[in-house]
Amino acid sequence: MKKQVLVTGGAGYIGSHTVRQLGEAGYDVVVFDNLSTGSPLAVLQGRLIVGDLGNLEQLQQVFYKHQFDAVLHFAASISVPDSISNPLQYYSNNTRNTLNLLSCCQAFGVQKFVFSSTAAVYGEPQENPVREQSPTSPINPYGCSKLMSERIIQDYSSASGLKHIILRYFNVAGADLSGRLGQSSGKATHLIKVACDAALGIRESVGIFGTDFPTPDGTGIRDFIHVEDLARAHIDALRYLEQGGESQILNCGYGRGYSVRQVLNRVKQLSGVDFQVFELQRRAGDPACVVASGERIRQLLGWQPQYEDLDIMLGTALNWESKCLEREKAILREQDDLPDKCFNFVELLPYKQKLEDIRHASVVSVVR
Ligand SMILES: NC(=O)c1ccc[n+]([C@@H]2O[C@H](COP(=O)([O-])OP(=O)(O)OC[C@H]3O[C@@H](n4cnc5c(N)ncnc54)[C@H](O)[C@@H]3O)[C@@H](O)[C@H]2O)c1
Repeated sequence: MKKQVLVTGGAGYIGSHTVRQLGEAGYDVVVFDNLSTGSPLAVLQGRLIVGDLGNLEQLQQVFYKHQFDAVLHFAASISVPDSISNPLQYYSNNTRNTLNLLSCCQAFGVQKFVFSSTAAVYGEPQENPVREQSPTSPINPYGCSKLMSERIIQDYSSASGLKHIILRYFNVAGADLSGRLGQSSGKATHLIKVACDAALGIRESVGIFGTDFPTPDGTGIRDFIHVEDLARAHIDALRYLEQGGESQILNCGYGRGYSVRQVLNRVKQLSGVDFQVFELQRRAGDPACVVASGERIRQLLGWQPQYEDLDIMLGTALNWESKCLEREKAILREQDDLPDKCFNFVELLPYKQKLEDIRHASVVSVVR
């Protein structure tokens, strides 16, 4: 019989790629997602239950009706700047709702748990590459909300039979290579998404937040990991737990950093579009350099990344965003709302909100 797994946030960016791989690997997947940023069309395997982790009764019903062998917990609010202006929302959605989920695991005897954590728990790292044992000292409520969740998971594991893998993702990028899935939230603010939007003409420019960091070109350095490799790490984590592996915290990154300026220049080269770049003040809560020490996950889980290449990450992201945009424009044209020739930022500006609404309404978030 197939093993049944619950995937919270499985309609979102990373969750949907993982759900597809879980289905392909023979798991029976149940996605639980409130669709606040996810899309029902991104759930390519298993079934989707629309619900909110804040609704404990509803969550209990889901556990009652299924026999989950494991839970993969992706659902969260994920914007650092947002977390600074709305900290309570972040502690509530990320930390309190993790507590809800664990209480269901306890009540229904689920003993395997894979958690989506983040490099933000390290804050401004004291060493690079950052090891799993490096001190954690988050510098924004998003990172704090995740670190608190980690602690709750660890404490509960110590007191119960739960075995967990906490995966600390670095900067996730790219899209499924066949172009079926990608970052579907139109409002996402990730650097690569924003750069792709500028290359495709739906955004006038890109701002670099901080050019005076102590890095070679003055801009922040991040370790980007392809979403397909990250999804694979979840399958590997699950198999490790199934084989009786002990609880672990593991970094998910390639151990190589690229600066914001390098990424923007490469998007310009790959797209052939020389979009405008503005230099702005540093944002609160942005560290200068965060690069993973990624050895442990390779040794322990046998994780073997396949897309460790900036051009693949940027190329698949550009491909995905361009497919989405073409589909969105086609829908607007069908509504007789968009002139046939409408290519650049200025021409698209009056339609920007409608394009975003289409994306958010999930009409086009999977381009098949
Ligand atoms: N994207 C990154 O670079 C990155 C980096 C580090 C960690 N992470 C972590 O990875 C996880 C997934 O991130 P993502 O980039 O796929 O984000 P996303 O916004 O695309 O996905 C989150 C999903 O969770 C759902 N969700 C949110 N709150 C919910 C709730 N209360 N109940 C039910 N569903 C809810 C959303 O609808 C969405 O489908 C998050 O936990 C995030 O903190 C992401």
